[in-house]
Amino acid sequence: MSDSLAFSDATRGKIHTLLGRYPRKQGALIPVLYLAQDEFGWLRPEVMELVAKELELPVATVLATATFYTMLYKKPVGRFHVQICVNVSCYLLGSDELMSIAQETLGIAPGQTSSDGLFSLEAVQCLCACDRAPTLQINQTDYFKVKGADFRNVLTQMQTEGTRLGPRPGWLEFQGDHDHHAHADQEAPHA
Ligand code: FES
Repeated sequence: MSDSLAFSDATRGKIHTLLGRYPRKQGALIPVLYLAQDEFGWLRPEVMELVAKELELPVATVLATATFYTMLYKKPVGRFHVQICVNVSCYLLGSDELMSIAQETLGIAPGQTSSDGLFSLEAVQCLCACDRAPTLQINQTDYFKVKGADFRNVLTQMQTEGTRLGPRPGWLEFQGDHDHHAHADQEAPHA
């Protein structure tokens, strides 16, 4: 593990607070992984090692948990991770139109991340809200009974916001490591 990799004081404080709520450190593993993801952008191996060290767990335990949950990113994703359900209920109520809007607005296909690191687009199989189809998720926020015009507006607003914020933490380091256009390659669907 890189000696220079460390949680910020702010994140360390949140971890400390979290640990006070669990009788065993392992109980805090998932929320700590989310904190690590927020801080470093994605859970590259060094980040998982840092979490393991922090919680005094085997790295294999951290890896197994991170692998199980698709919301925990094992590869870099954009600032905004757009996941559109394309399963049957959503398909019948217009998910193909939503996917077309996303591709047209963002200029990427499902499974890709925009070259500026602002958006990743995924087609997923079910977001467990079939009665409110068509559904999609952007980062931690769910959108139900989505209308095309509303979705287009949300994406446009996020493009403006993303330009202001820049890519997620970790994106630039990844680009430097690989020197090519990166794809999200996230596993769908949700756990
Ligand atoms: S089919 Fe889309 S949420 Fe289940």
